[in-house]
Amino acid sequence: MLLVTDLERWRRLAEDQRAGGRRIGLVATMGALHEGHQALVAAARANGDYVIMTIFVNSRQFNDPNDLRAYPRTPGQDRAVAESAGVDALVEPTMGEMWPAFPDPTLTTVSVAGLGDRLEGAGRPGHFDGVASVVAKLAIVTGPSRAYFGEKDFQQLAVVRRMVADLGLDVTVVGCPIVRDDDGLALSSRNVRLSPEARARALSLSHALGVASGHDGPASEMRAMMRATMEHAGVQVAYAEVVDPITLRPADDTETGLRRALVAGVVDGVRLIDNREVYVRGGH
Ligand code: PAF
Repeated sequence: MLLVTDLERWRRLAEDQRAGGRRIGLVATMGALHEGHQALVAAARANGDYVIMTIFVNSRQFNDPNDLRAYPRTPGQDRAVAESAGVDALVEPTMGEMWPAFPDPTLTTVSVAGLGDRLEGAGRPGHFDGVASVVAKLAIVTGPSRAYFGEKDFQQLAVVRRMVADLGLDVTVVGCPIVRDDDGLALSSRNVRLSPEARARALSLSHALGVASGHDGPASEMRAMMRATMEHAGVQVAYAEVVDPITLRPADDTETGLRRALVAGVVDGVRLIDNREVYVRGGH
C-alpha cells in the first residue's frame, strides 16, 4: 500500500493509474476505521477498482470545536486496517493543502441548499457545506470513476449525489449498506465514546427504526413511535423523521410507498444517527 501526503503526488498517482487504464474507486474517510469502512473498500475491490482511501479529519464539517477535538484519531491502527482491507493507496492530505486558510474559512464553499440545511444540518449549521466542499475537492484531485459512501450517513449520501449531479462531476456515487454490530447498533467511529450503559441506551435508535418498519401506517404515526421508543430509553432525541429518500422532504400522511426513516439522538454527550427504509401507508 502506498502512503501519500503530498497533494501533487496524489494527483499524479491518480493520473498514472487512469493512464494505465485503471478505474479509481475513492473511499473518503476521517479515519478511526471500522468494519463499515472495510465494507466500502470491499465494494470497490469487488468492482475491480484501484482503491484510493483518503483520511482527513475535515475541520469544516464540525460546527462544534469540542466535537472536532474529541473526534477519535488512530493513524497507526488506520494504516494497518487500510492495508489489510486491500487499499492500494492511502492518502493523508495535510490541513495546509486542503484548507490553507484554516482556522479562517476558505473562500469557496460548495453548498447543496435545501438538502443540507434540514435534519442533521438543522442541528449542525454548516456541516453539509463542509462535507460537500471537502468531497468536491477530494473528488477533483483524485478523479475517481466511483466514490463509495455508507448509507449510515444517509443525508450525506443524498447531498453528495445531488452535488455530483449539479456540478456534472464524472463519478458514480455508490451507496453501501449500513454495517451493524450483532446487537444492531450501526457502526460509527463515535461508538468508542459510549460507556456500556450508554451503548445499551443507544440501541434504542435501531429499535425505533425496527418499530417504524414493522408499522403499517402513515408517516406521522411512525415519527411518534420512533420518538417514544428513544425517549423511553433516555435518549435526547434530535429528530425522528420519515422522508423522501432523494429530496429528503418529510412524507405527509396521504403518501403511500417506500420512504426513509431517519433518527438522531444524543446519548451521554455522544450524537448518534441511524436510518432504515420503511413503507408508509397513508390515509385518504
Ligand atoms: O463520512 C465521513 O467520514 C465524512 O463525512 C467524509 C465523507 C469523509 C467527508 O469528510
